[in-house]
Amino acid sequence: MSAVLVVAEVIRPLRWRVLRPDQPFAEAVYPGDDAPDTFHVAVRSGGDVLACASFHREPAPDGREGWRLRGMASATPGRGYGSTALTFGLAEVQRRGGRLVWCNARLPAVPFYQRHGFTVTSAEFEIPPIGRHVVMERVLP
Ligand SMILES: CC(C)(COP(=O)(O)OP(=O)(O)OC[C@H]1O[C@@H](n2cnc3c(N)ncnc32)[C@H](O)[C@@H]1OP(=O)(O)O)[C@@H](O)C(=O)NCCC(=O)NCCS
Repeated sequence: MSAVLVVAEVIRPLRWRVLRPDQPFAEAVYPGDDAPDTFHVAVRSGGDVLACASFHREPAPDGREGWRLRGMASATPGRGYGSTALTFGLAEVQRRGGRLVWCNARLPAVPFYQRHGFTVTSAEFEIPPIGRHVVMERVLP
């Protein structure tokens, strides 16, 4: 198992299956996917994509410069795949000179992000049709 940078097409099938299974495949194409600063992380084993995460430059909701994490998904939860993708992505943001990483976190994923040093910075809000979210952020050293 290894984490690598890939083009968006590689991670969209997993993104769709895990995050948008009840929506058309087009919903797995996110705005900014192909922007020059965007990068996509895949955790791979052989030809399989085990986890994915995408990062693009977007200010935090309060306007601070930052990197937004989107499309965090694992093919098989609880085996460390998601952690491998996220850890690799955070290191890549750091390598690119970024310090603030933020995301709209689904409530069930909050403990996962907390374990990776993220803190909740907003009240709960709804993103239809997905559900309740909070904003979380991590300031990198
Ligand atoms: C959130 C998500 C991406 C985490 O990915 P994951 O592959 O399950 O992540 P990990 O396996 O690294 O960690 C998950 C749990 O497994 C445990 N774990 C970590 N490594 C492990 C290992 N090698 N063996 C067994 N368990 C392990 C951890 O204790 C962790 O617990 P936590 O959730 O309380 O932090 C995944 O659960 C997922 O795809 N969820 C559905 C989509 C989703 O909600 N995405 C986030 C949108 S904001």
